[in-house]
Amino acid sequence: MTNKKTLEKKSVLANAVDAGLNWVDARFPLTSNIKAHLTEYYAPKNFNFWYFFGSLALFVLVLQIVTGIFLVMHYKPDAQFAFQSVEYIMREVPGGWFIRYMHSTGASMFFVVVYLHMVRALIYGSYRKPRELVWIFGVGIFLCLMGEAFFGYLLPWGQMSFWGAQVIVNLFSAIPFIGPELSIWIRGDYVVSDATLNRFFAFHVIAIPLVLLGLVAAHVIALHEVGSNNPDGVDIKAKKDKLGRPLDGIPFHPFYTVHDIMGVAGFLIIFMAIVFFAPEMGGYFLEFNNFIPADPLKTPLHIAPVWYFTPFYSMLRATTDDFTWVLAGAAVLGAIVMFLRNKGIWKLLVPVVLLGVAVLLRLIDAKFWGVVAMGGAVVLLFFLPWLDYSPVKSLRYRPGWHKTFYGIFFANFIVLGYLGTQAPTDIFNLISQIGTLIYLGFFFLMPVWSRLGTFKPVPDRVTFHAH
Ligand code: HEM
Repeated sequence: MTNKKTLEKKSVLANAVDAGLNWVDARFPLTSNIKAHLTEYYAPKNFNFWYFFGSLALFVLVLQIVTGIFLVMHYKPDAQFAFQSVEYIMREVPGGWFIRYMHSTGASMFFVVVYLHMVRALIYGSYRKPRELVWIFGVGIFLCLMGEAFFGYLLPWGQMSFWGAQVIVNLFSAIPFIGPELSIWIRGDYVVSDATLNRFFAFHVIAIPLVLLGLVAAHVIALHEVGSNNPDGVDIKAKKDKLGRPLDGIPFHPFYTVHDIMGVAGFLIIFMAIVFFAPEMGGYFLEFNNFIPADPLKTPLHIAPVWYFTPFYSMLRATTDDFTWVLAGAAVLGAIVMFLRNKGIWKLLVPVVLLGVAVLLRLIDAKFWGVVAMGGAVVLLFFLPWLDYSPVKSLRYRPGWHKTFYGIFFANFIVLGYLGTQAPTDIFNLISQIGTLIYLGFFFLMPVWSRLGTFKPVPDRVTFHAH
């Protein structure tokens, strides 16, 4: 009797839910979108550890926005009060320290997650056809993240905030002709000041987050249009069942929603351990100098950006006047090779451009080329899909020495990152210069080396071992 009653009740409830859904579906494509992006979105069944980082990046993005909103409730974007307002958040606002440390730790962990996400794309060739736009939106996101972190770092108005911004904005003055005016225009003053703080605040809390959200939406939409790659680099859409479902695909929901929740749980254990026990992370996440209020009259002994910028910062510092000779030599060598290899219009055009670059490298101040090397190192990533000529996507099926190349590239990036945190010495500078050549050479020479060697046969279906 009771059972029957419950059944009746359930069916009434189910009917009500159905009716509600029908009402919504007639006005908004809810069910069809849930199907297209979750329950009937087929993702390869062989995702591994590396595939946690996309959903983790989404998680950290939401975390940064939510903690950011609470910080803005108490923060004051005014050079007179900014530092004190952060101290007020840390000491007086209930739970304020927790919100602030989640936000500051979140900034560093965002880069940890996104760097690992990019490594995955590199080793499995996820940037290649048909995912070029997924990758391009991704590089756009990376650029925005760098801007977001840079603008946010000024807000606590500590010594490092102030002097870091001063150094980076001054770099623009190295641009020939317009440089000095441009850097004043960016700061809104002759030095970093209240005007600078106000505009950086506007960019940090509204302008860049809006662009970032738009790019993330475009990134995921583009990915769902073509489908995910996988560790084998095999196209799962090539083999389908009678109903048109990929044989090696499983519905994103519930399989990968559960999988990703597990990833978030693991991430939160590490994240909260840092927030509670090591929020400064030995000066790498929050620099010690930044606990001292900004003082325009006292330059800190050693100014270095936060760790996630330091690989690129190393390339900037490595570009000394001597080093431009090496770069000019490389450009001349490139011109000769291009002249010998190319045909038609490219036979002359590319060498002439390269020789022009070689001459300019010696004519314009090295500081400018440092900025070009630093910016170019990121911009180069946009072109990756057109630099890689390997006949297979995934590193799994590439010659062994390709794996060594990638290993050297990643290790070199970490070494550059470490050197960027240290005070410059002659030997460190030499290592940074070699590191810069390795980084640039990896990409510029990729059209040549990526097609060389003996490749392993790629299987028809993904390799998967149930666990
Ligand atoms: C806010 C930052 C980002 C978010 C929220 C995000 C989100 C995602 C998500 C949810 C996926 C699908 C799940 C996965 O494959 O792990 C994905 C895939 C992908 N992302 Fe990102 N992403 C971000 C940044 C980047 C960046 C900086 C790059 C590269 C420069 C990038 C390149 C890719 C590529 C190539 C894929 C396809 C991977 C494959 O199919 O194997 N993403 N992203």
